[in-house]
Amino acid sequence: MKFGGIIAAIFAVSAAATPTPTVNKRATTWCDAWGSQVTGGYTIYHNNWGAAQATSGSQCTTLESVNSGSVVWSTSWTWAGGSSSVKSYSNVALVDVNKKLSAISSVPSTWSWIYTGSNIVANVAYDLWLAPSVGANDSYEIMIWLAALGGAGPISSTGSPVDSPTIAGSQWKVYTGNNGSVKVISFVATSSITNFNGDLNQFLTYLTTKQGVSSSLYATKLQAGTEPFTGSNAVLKTSAYRISVS
Ligand SMILES: *[C@@H]1O[C@H](CO)[C@@H](O)[C@H](O)[C@H]1NC(C)=O
Ligand SMILES: *[C@@H]1O[C@H](CO)[C@@H](O)[C@H](O)[C@H]1NC(C)=O
Repeated sequence: MKFGGIIAAIFAVSAAATPTPTVNKRATTWCDAWGSQVTGGYTIYHNNWGAAQATSGSQCTTLESVNSGSVVWSTSWTWAGGSSSVKSYSNVALVDVNKKLSAISSVPSTWSWIYTGSNIVANVAYDLWLAPSVGANDSYEIMIWLAALGGAGPISSTGSPVDSPTIAGSQWKVYTGNNGSVKVISFVATSSITNFNGDLNQFLTYLTTKQGVSSSLYATKLQAGTEPFTGSNAVLKTSAYRISVS
């Protein structure tokens, strides 16, 4: 009994002093059309949803680790053909957020990444989904493009930005358009941000105060990944990604 108590006390001290152990020790790689894994509060998706638009190509996504809430992952691809179509969206997601915008006070996130490869046309982007109620279809897709590589551009009904605000310390061009019944609002960084560290709630506040988005909508799913159009031997490596909602 006494011995057990000592062990428990030592364990409690060391648990408080050291970071959460690595949740995922061995890398997991997906190269089929779909794959996902839930770990450390995140869902990692490998998702070649638009691959049928390519004339050739393939993509693999690797989850390296989730350590103390920080995700290390990469995705590598070569896609040719269908130059105006997105081929995939490998991403790290917070699913079932289901929090009203008016009840959100901060969404801190950091994302450090590097893209290598040839002739890359792709974005590096957050994709935030908003719905009128929990369980309803999303009515808004909010994209935050940290990079628009090789001339990639967002959905836009006019082809021109509707605003160019400074948010979270950087300047963005804002585009609006529709994808089916979903309204798409995209923020595109005026120059690539490879080490993002900011509060995404500042974008949500901008939307409710400047773009007529209702603060009674619910944030449903928060994703971060890349949408490739075309390129070869491309690798997006994320050395640190984290996000939380409060
Ligand atoms: C979501 O949209 C689909 C396709 O338009 C529709 O069939 C479905 O009923 C909708 N679901 C809800 C919960 O509104
Ligand atoms: C458009 O909507 C489809 C179907 O919901 C979705 O898979 C796709 O990612 C959306 N496209 C863009 C560019 O947001």
